[in-house]
Amino acid sequence: MRKTKIIAAVLSLTMLAGLFTGCSSKTTKITTDKFIKACEKLDLKEYAFGGKRTPILDDLDKGFYIYADTDMVEDEEESLDDFLKEINLDDVFEAENIKSFAFAAKCDGFDYDDIVFDADDLSDIELDGAAAFQMTLDGNYAADFMDYLEDLLDKIDISTDDLSDKEYYSSKNEGYLRLHLDLEDLIEDINGSDSYHGLYNYLYFSTDGLIDTLDDVSGEAAISVEINGNCIFVIFGFNTNTKDAEVISDFVKAFGASCDPMTVPVNEDVAQELVNKYLGSIANEILPDPGDPYPTTTPPVITGAGKVGISMPTQDLMRWKQDGENLKYEIEFYGYQADLQYANNDVSTQIMQIEDMINSGCEVLIIAAIDVYSLDTVLEKATAAGVTVIAYDRLIMCTSDVDYYVTFDNYMAGQLQAEYIVESLGLNSGAGPFNIEITAGEPGDDNAALFFNGAMDTLLPYIASGQLNVISGQTDFFDCATDLWSTENARGRAESIIGNNYLNGTEIDAWLCSNDSTALGVIQALEASGYNGNWPIITGQDCDIISVKNIIAGKQAMSVFKDTRTLVYQAAAMANQILQGSQPPVNNTDRFYNASIIVPTYLCAPEVVDINNYKTILIGGGYYTEEDLT
Ligand code: BGC
Repeated sequence: MRKTKIIAAVLSLTMLAGLFTGCSSKTTKITTDKFIKACEKLDLKEYAFGGKRTPILDDLDKGFYIYADTDMVEDEEESLDDFLKEINLDDVFEAENIKSFAFAAKCDGFDYDDIVFDADDLSDIELDGAAAFQMTLDGNYAADFMDYLEDLLDKIDISTDDLSDKEYYSSKNEGYLRLHLDLEDLIEDINGSDSYHGLYNYLYFSTDGLIDTLDDVSGEAAISVEINGNCIFVIFGFNTNTKDAEVISDFVKAFGASCDPMTVPVNEDVAQELVNKYLGSIANEILPDPGDPYPTTTPPVITGAGKVGISMPTQDLMRWKQDGENLKYEIEFYGYQADLQYANNDVSTQIMQIEDMINSGCEVLIIAAIDVYSLDTVLEKATAAGVTVIAYDRLIMCTSDVDYYVTFDNYMAGQLQAEYIVESLGLNSGAGPFNIEITAGEPGDDNAALFFNGAMDTLLPYIASGQLNVISGQTDFFDCATDLWSTENARGRAESIIGNNYLNGTEIDAWLCSNDSTALGVIQALEASGYNGNWPIITGQDCDIISVKNIIAGKQAMSVFKDTRTLVYQAAAMANQILQGSQPPVNNTDRFYNASIIVPTYLCAPEVVDINNYKTILIGGGYYTEEDLT
């Protein structure tokens, strides 16, 4: 009877609170289609609507989704009405307004019975999961929802006046509020007291055993709900038995919808009040959506104290341009000033720009270094000025003046590329011999070596066994490197390799390229050099638009997708927490030694994109639209 109650409480609280967040350009409107695709991507199984367990599915441990479209909704109107009553939304709209309804849950040890509100056998549930809820309505209910929300907040003694514009916003057609509960605080505060009863009763739950439940639980829960025109999307996560919130991140990523709710900032005053009263802490984010079909008022301007310097290598590569702009957007969204500078891939320009940022009062620097070995002197100045430094994507080396690192697992990116080649060529079943060439990245970027090592550690056994031949003989990192990751440099080297070795009918079966800009150079070289063979299996990284188009055209086999939105959210959340004086989230504290110190890191996982899954991951995930790729 224990832990599920928390889930039930949080679930219901979410639904009851009807938390809305304003339309946002970083968040994507969730369509039912997208929701279902995301569920499938997360390997969730479809579950019949209506609350009855279907015989085909006996194992729901890993997660499930329920979907009801218009027809089913009509059939199920009665139960939907009940459902709306149960979650107190029947005042806001009726079942007939719902065009479709979807709910998904993923939680180890999770069972359908565990999420029904009056479950009575709750003993073996693990609270480590996430749930999402989506409804498509046939009208615009934002204003009603917001009224409802205000009433609800009022009932639990939270005045919207106590919330900043950043936390709560309501207008005729849109509104938002985000909530971040800290269960540990909640437990500490209410354990042994009766103060939760009011809320719990209000939520129509039985209170039996709640104190025991709370005793056992630790960690966080988070909720984020969006309302945008006629679409409501809710995602909420529980991270009570583990700190790394992987399930929640998976959800957020798969839906491509919202910033990780676990990183939502906390309003200390309100949080304290809520902890004292019932919950934990409350916070939110808002971003204006220029594409909002129902624009009403200008979104509030948030003013916070603090300035963040964002130092990016170049605007020439799509990814950095995007990263820089998104970071600026996020930082300003948090209410801080952002100073974004691109250094034209020139190390001394970057150093000068960082110096300017320090002198102009930036308190946090987010840096994607051009040469990770060249920033020690300027970062000494940063430390002396009390500036906190976040290395972004590239680990800044040989200095103790770097405080945090946020990155994708770069060694793994290389491994994914090599494993793709191994699998495509059937090397594990002994196929071969095949010819392969290798193009690596910029030696001044430590990531380049990590990609290379991740890939080569996987490929070397096959080179040693003779299943893979590198006819050019170039297998050393420095022989394979590409200055500044430039397409032109990669093309030049590839043209000479092809000219010297492959114009006599010898096939190139695979070409390991560390990223998309170098893969593009190799593709151009193959096209321009008179090479007559089949397209080799060419790898890449970044899912640049031009390279995804090359995947669609059959020229490039795969790219490693690093959803830079995740990285941006993470880095911006880190900056925010630093400026709020709190400890930013990290999930690795032992792996990233920069030859001076181990840098506390937030590590994200890359994934493979190829012709089979690009639609689901890139379009379904809201990263690109169909038009972007045509
Ligand atoms: C990044 C890659 C990118 C490369 C070139 C690396 O540091 O991790 O994603 O392709 O730089 O810009």
